[in-house]
Amino acid sequence: MLTKTMLAVVAVLAQMHSAMAAESLYGKGSPIIQITNKKQLNQLINSSNHTSIVEFYAPWCGHCKNLKGDYEKAARSLAGMVNVAAVNCDETRELCSSMGIQGFPTLKIVRPSKTPGRKAVIEDYQGQRTAGSIVDSLTSQMNNHVVKVTDATLDSFLSANEGPKALLFTEKGTTAPTTKALATDFLGALSLGQVRSKEAATVDKYGVTKFPALVLLPAGDDKEPVVYDGKMKHKEMVAFLSQAAEPNKPVDINAAAPPKKAKADKDKKDKTEKKEKKEKEEKKPEKEDKADKAEEETETTSTPTEQQTAPVIVQSAMPIPTVHTLEKLQSSCLSEKSHTCMLAFIGDEANEKETATQDVLGHLAELAHKNALAKRAAFPFYAVPASNEASAVLLKALELESSDNKGQVHLVAVNARRGWWRHFKGEDLSFKAIESWFDAIRMGEGTKEKLPASLMVKAEVKEEPKGEVKEEVKEEVKEEVKEEVKEEPKEEEVKHEEL
Ligand SMILES: *[C@@H]1O[C@H](CO)[C@@H](O)[C@H](O)[C@H]1NC(C)=O
Ligand SMILES: *[C@@H]1O[C@H](CO)[C@@H](O)[C@H](O)[C@H]1NC(C)=O
Repeated sequence: MLTKTMLAVVAVLAQMHSAMAAESLYGKGSPIIQITNKKQLNQLINSSNHTSIVEFYAPWCGHCKNLKGDYEKAARSLAGMVNVAAVNCDETRELCSSMGIQGFPTLKIVRPSKTPGRKAVIEDYQGQRTAGSIVDSLTSQMNNHVVKVTDATLDSFLSANEGPKALLFTEKGTTAPTTKALATDFLGALSLGQVRSKEAATVDKYGVTKFPALVLLPAGDDKEPVVYDGKMKHKEMVAFLSQAAEPNKPVDINAAAPPKKAKADKDKKDKTEKKEKKEKEEKKPEKEDKADKAEEETETTSTPTEQQTAPVIVQSAMPIPTVHTLEKLQSSCLSEKSHTCMLAFIGDEANEKETATQDVLGHLAELAHKNALAKRAAFPFYAVPASNEASAVLLKALELESSDNKGQVHLVAVNARRGWWRHFKGEDLSFKAIESWFDAIRMGEGTKEKLPASLMVKAEVKEEPKGEVKEEVKEEVKEEVKEEVKEEPKEEEVKHEEL
């Protein structure tokens, strides 16, 4: 029986290819600004005059996947007004932990100070995770640099500075998000005033007959006002005002991006780059963001909002890392040199979303956190989703498959070097139960099963330059990449229709 299993395992292993590395949730065509390092995040936080929202997510997290559509929809309707960004915490764990992220997704709103040079206020977005709620919340938190102008204050507005100005005439008493965005775009370059239709003298002075209307007042006494006759759309209005003043450049996240290599061989390289980047980031000190966090704590003035419909995942620690590829699992836990690893087989996407699964992952994160705080020697914990083919292979080889695998999380400790494994048994998946199991393993207590030799990989297998398996791997990776590229535009189209 065991031989049969082993044969099957070997067969599957031979066909294995590396699954795609931890994918970003957002594709290339996505309207989301994708932040991959601390510099970029600082750029957004420190130098944008526009309000931003930043999602801290993990690609495997169910609530993050659920949010994706709404988040992109919100980004499209906030385009030009608010920066909508995302950070993949699987790629930049250190950055996320330095931001105090304790669960996924976490949405933070960054509101720049109205006083130049002062620090931005960062607070958690607590509203509903729907496009409508996000848009409403963000538009209401945009800084307002628009000057309310009345017949009585027109002269002081005009003489406040020598620079170019513009007046937006409207019937409304409130300031529209597009108007706020316009003022922010020209901050320091052009003053924007808003005049209500009832300010008869001012309306009359500029000959405004319909509302809304935009009038540009170029600098210099000899210059005549110019009445705008285009569409009252953000982009067009910016272009119109640009004849008198240069708008501020939008924050360029890519200016802070590491230099990109040539496109050829990109996919293969990307993965390595990402890995390197991640490693580098993990080594960086966390100090920089301390100030941010302190501010966040003291200045948080979260507005009361509706209850969230989705349950919030609250974890006291950074989530445990997810292993997305067979190769990674082999090199970390199944090579003849590997020490003990704790693996949480979390099943398919639907199962990942389950509260029970999230609870177990939360307990493991908490335990890892506790170990780290206590400076206790511990082995690493990894989540293994069903999308990692290693999941099926291992569960089969260890005979943990069952008809009701749905909704079940398997905790397995494995030590390939010593050739043993252990399965967490019992219904009680509480923190206490997991911790005592972990302690027993740590102390070498309890019985161990013999790890099927077929699961172990020789350390040098990976280095072999021309193995047959390797060739096959390359082919399949290529195919996968092609498929992905094909799928992306389709996805975008669907979403555009949603708008
Ligand atoms: C932000 O506003 C200031 C004026 O207060 C301006 O000098 C600066 O260029 C603006 N920065 C960006 C990135 O728009
Ligand atoms: C942004 O602000 C942080 C602190 O909030 C600071 O440590 C960092 O150096 C700043 N980055 C830039 C690019 O100014």
